Amino acid sequence: MPETQSLFNKVAEHYDLLNTLLSFGTDKSWRRRLAEEIRSSKIVLDIATGTAEVAIEVVKRWNGCFAIGIDPSKQMLDLAQAKLRVAGVKKKITLVEGVAESLPFKDGTFDAITIAFGIRNTIDPLTSLKEMYRVLRPASRVGILEFAVPQNRIFAPLYMSYIRNMFPFLGSFFGKRNEYQYLVDSIPIFPQRDSLTKLMEDAGFSVKKLIELTMGTVIIYVGVKED
Ligand SMILES: C[S@@+](CC[C@H](N)C(=O)[O-])C[C@H]1O[C@@H](n2cnc3c(N)ncnc32)[C@H](O)[C@@H]1O
Repeated sequence: MPETQSLFNKVAEHYDLLNTLLSFGTDKSWRRRLAEEIRSSKIVLDIATGTAEVAIEVVKRWNGCFAIGIDPSKQMLDLAQAKLRVAGVKKKITLVEGVAESLPFKDGTFDAITIAFGIRNTIDPLTSLKEMYRVLRPASRVGILEFAVPQNRIFAPLYMSYIRNMFPFLGSFFGKRNEYQYLVDSIPIFPQRDSLTKLMEDAGFSVKKLIELTMGTVIIYVGVKED
C-alpha cells in the first residue's frame, strides 16, 4: 500500500477531532463552501472522501443530490459509514474503496466532483486530475479544496510556524507525531495557486476562480470541463 494510504489508516481514528482542533472549528465552513460552489448537481463524486465530511455537506446542501465517496483507506471509510447513519444520509451516499489515479467509473458519469485536502496526498496529482476530467460530464464543475501558504508577509511566517509546531504536537497526543509532521511538511511543497491552476489546465479544465479562505490558508479551485 503506498505511503499516504497507510498513513491515513493510522490517523483515521482521531482525524475529525484533530481537524477541528487545528482549524479552531473553521474546517466545516470550508467544506460547506466547497459544497456550495459545485452548484445543484444530481450525482457528485467526492474523491479522497475520508470520513465523508464533504459528501455529507453536498447531499444536505442540494436537494435530490446523490454522492459517491471514494477513498483507498478502509479505516476512513468504516468511520464514514458510521457517520452516514448518524447524519441520516445513508441512502444518499455510497462509499467505494479506490484511488484518484484510477477511478472505477465510466467517462462522463458525474455532474460535479469535489476533493478536499486530498489532491496533495495522491501519488500522481496530474493523472488524478485527468481522471477527474474523464469521469465528469461536459459543462460540469470540479471543486478542489486544499491548504496553501498564505501570501501576507507578516501573517505567513506566523501561520507556518503555528502549523509546523501544532500539527505534530497535537498528533503526538494520539501517538501520530510523524504522520502529522508529514501532513504539514507537504503543504509548502505542493503546487498551489498558479501552479495548481496550471496542473488543472494541463488535465483539460478551464479554471474559473480561486477562492481564498481564512486569510489564504486554504483555497478552493473551481474548474469546468467545457462543453
Ligand atoms: C486529509 S484526508 C481528507 C479527507 C476528507 N476529504 C476531508 O475533507 O476531511 C486525505 C484523504 O486522501 C486519501 N487518499 C490518499 N491517497 C489517495 C489517493 N491516491 N487517491 C484518493 N484518495 C487518497 C486518504 O486515505 C485520506 O482519507
